[in-house]
Amino acid sequence: MTLILGLESSCDETAAALVDNGRRIWAQRVSGQEVDHAPYGGVVPEIAARAHVDRLTPLIEDVFAEAGVKLADIDAIAATAGPGLIGGVMVGLVTGKALAHAAGKPLIAVNHLEGHALSPRLADPDLRFPYLLLLVSGGHCQLLLVRGVDDYRRLATTIDDAAGEAFDKTAKLLGLGYPGGPAVEHLAREGDPTAVPLPRPLLGSGEPHFSFAGLKSAVARAASEAVHRPADLAASFQQAVIDCLVDRSRRALNACPQATAFVVAGGVAANEPIRAALTALAANFDKPFVAPPLWLCTDNGAMIAWAGVERFAAGLIDDLDVAARPRWPLDPSAEAVRGAGVKA
Ligand code: KG4
Ligand code: ZN
Repeated sequence: MTLILGLESSCDETAAALVDNGRRIWAQRVSGQEVDHAPYGGVVPEIAARAHVDRLTPLIEDVFAEAGVKLADIDAIAATAGPGLIGGVMVGLVTGKALAHAAGKPLIAVNHLEGHALSPRLADPDLRFPYLLLLVSGGHCQLLLVRGVDDYRRLATTIDDAAGEAFDKTAKLLGLGYPGGPAVEHLAREGDPTAVPLPRPLLGSGEPHFSFAGLKSAVARAASEAVHRPADLAASFQQAVIDCLVDRSRRALNACPQATAFVVAGGVAANEPIRAALTALAANFDKPFVAPPLWLCTDNGAMIAWAGVERFAAGLIDDLDVAARPRWPLDPSAEAVRGAGVKA
């Protein structure tokens, strides 16, 4: 049995978890910072970093206490080393290094995106490589062929905003506050998705990528006209995102017949209508559809611990001088796209 401690601090959740290679989650804690950032309508990096400093150590003590194990009992420490807000990433990574050094245990520096990408395998033991992954979060919107641990081919990325970012900005425009995704989904339930005509950037395009900036601007214009019901705007926006995600994913599924399954991960994957649309798409291709449970879609420590389990099994451990990385693409060979530098 291999037992790994996972630490996550790349954005606005502080999290720790103990997970073993038999997929048992011994204990896990997530501490969100919604209240701290809500007055600013978005994550303030300095506030986030300080909150991670305050919270991480107590969370680690809690998971060890709940699991009834000690530092000496675990096999390695996995910590998010990027990409993300660098102050927060450093808090988790330095904490992981200190624990690894003190306990004489290996350190595993985890790419946060690999945490999301492998999390469906924590939930589903039958999920085999290679699979097609739609990774949709606050900072990223990518289609990846997951060929194995540490082995990713990026098929598509966003040329401007991420899907979660578009949800968060739409929420702000509609006065729904932060975090925006769940609030927009909730309001959209009472709206008509056909009420407000909105663009679907790159829909049907020959290139594989995503774009959401034009949609965001159109929502801003429609909101400023003040003639639409907010619920109709929310529903119409969400439908436009769904249409884009489905269209781009369909293109990738056509390009990857070898994929054993169609998988979605990342915070936006918590959205029920999006999951329903992607489920239908996978069925059209006769592929199993795999989506982690909602708690595993948004940032958490279990996905980092699980990525640690997978990397440990593959012999991938890191030196204690490994650096925190604000940007860290999963597929280093992927070409930069238009607007690159905006999103990896
Ligand atoms: O993966 P995640 O927790 O953090 C990042 O690594 O970015 O994703 C957070 C993003 C936010 O943009 C949030 O608004 C979005 O996921 N999100 C949702 C929903 N829940 C979270 N977007 C749409 N519908 C949801 N239910
Ligand atoms: Zn994330």
